[in-house]
Amino acid sequence: MIKKELAEILKKAWGNDVFLDYPVNNQFGDLATNFAIIHKEKSANDLVGLIPKIDWLEKIEIAGAGFINFTIKPAKLVDEIDREIDKINKTMVIDYSAPNIAKPFGIGHLRSTNIGQAIYNLYQYLGWNCVGVNHLGDWGTQFGKLIVAIKKWGDKNLAEMTVEDLEKIYVRFHQEAETDLELEEHGRDWFAKLENGDAEAREIWQKCIEISLKEFDKVYEKLGVKIDYALGESFYTDKMPAMIEELKNKGLVTESQGAKIIEFEKMPPAMVIKSNGTTTYFTRDMATLKYRVERWQPDLLIYEVGSDQELHFKQVFATAKKLGIETETVHVAHGMIRWKDGKFSTRSGKTIHLDEVIEKAKEEARKIAPENNEEKIEAVAIGAIKFSDLSADPKKDIIFDWEKVMSMEGSSGPYLQYTYARCMSVLEKIKEPTNNIFSDLNLEEKNLLIELIKFNEKVVEAAERFNPAVLAEYLLSIARKYNEFYAKHRIVGEASEQWRGWLTQKTAEKLKTGLTLLGIKPVLEM
Ligand code: ARG
Repeated sequence: MIKKELAEILKKAWGNDVFLDYPVNNQFGDLATNFAIIHKEKSANDLVGLIPKIDWLEKIEIAGAGFINFTIKPAKLVDEIDREIDKINKTMVIDYSAPNIAKPFGIGHLRSTNIGQAIYNLYQYLGWNCVGVNHLGDWGTQFGKLIVAIKKWGDKNLAEMTVEDLEKIYVRFHQEAETDLELEEHGRDWFAKLENGDAEAREIWQKCIEISLKEFDKVYEKLGVKIDYALGESFYTDKMPAMIEELKNKGLVTESQGAKIIEFEKMPPAMVIKSNGTTTYFTRDMATLKYRVERWQPDLLIYEVGSDQELHFKQVFATAKKLGIETETVHVAHGMIRWKDGKFSTRSGKTIHLDEVIEKAKEEARKIAPENNEEKIEAVAIGAIKFSDLSADPKKDIIFDWEKVMSMEGSSGPYLQYTYARCMSVLEKIKEPTNNIFSDLNLEEKNLLIELIKFNEKVVEAAERFNPAVLAEYLLSIARKYNEFYAKHRIVGEASEQWRGWLTQKTAEKLKTGLTLLGIKPVLEM
């Protein structure tokens, strides 16, 4: 990366870390530093005198209050575009998606799936060995309640029921539990039975998993997501006793009203075992973390889970430290999705079902890609949903506004797909793009070229900040720079055709790689 390369040369020459930036207006060069303004010991003039000869620099200038501006030779920029990134040989495990059995795949899990998959892809691009795990919610007290509900109100033939049916009777359980005070008690009993291996409980539970996985698989197929391992919470059942022993042996566990808990200095306690002897979400996550560390020996453990679980992960990570686990851990907490007009009308009441969102997106996509086939419409619809999710910082809540999501001009997935398609149709008309720079670069060519060289550093930044929006924003700025260039200069049939064709080809390449990293399908024509 040119920026890094230059920063290293300057650090050697000046004896201090050097921060370089791309000036918004490249009249001031391609890279600039305010080093002379921060470090007053030496004047900008002296500093420039200390720089060794760099043959890929066109000029070095001093401007304003002491900014030092560097202009890079176009040939260097051209080379930089195809430069491969140095691969990182490390392992990470990422926990993402993790929907709950017997509940619909909701919009919260959609965010986790999109962001998690994008982070996975970014790390993989940088060379990391990546392990994706789907920590399905298939265990816990709620399954006791669900079993009670199924026994009371379920269909004779459980296999015929859908996730929606299961959700309905689960909701009914809670309604009736308000007056029938014994129901909750039964629920807890049935979960205890399930944990103790009761045959009937296990059979019902198993069926619920099958029903749900069938639906989840459909969602993953639509989203084009494949998660390496599906290891739900139940997978850790036989690892619980050892985990609990370990926590006790380290002296971390105390009794509280019949339950076993872990106390922390600055946080509320976490529950290890409930008073009726059943295990908890917390303890399962402890066993899970240990399992992942032992099985994959990762350098980094990532959890892409809603910000409502912030405290939970703080407790889990703090406890892991107390157990002597040194692996770096991160909770990439995502905010909520809100709808512009307050709520999203849905046939099934409270929860927003992903299917309905996709259907609505397809309806919108048909308006902008009317003659296209189903496959394309789906790619545009899903690309639009994903992009609106990924172009926001995960931490922030996002406001879902169909007009913006589907806009062809704005900051949207369709806009990127449209620009990619534009590049591809230009390329169809050009015989042989070449990187022989044609005469002096005009402003738009230069701007585009500078934008294109940033690809690798943007991927690094997005990965380091666990924020795919860094890449999403960058792709938008490539598209804008290309469209400015396209609006102002003819390409096909000009003497500069091959050179401008090459710029077009590189734009298409970067957009395609970037969109693919975000899990969005590039579409050929729109
Ligand atoms: N199934 C959980 C939920 O929907 C998310 C699980 C996240 N992963 C974890 N290791 N706890 O809330």
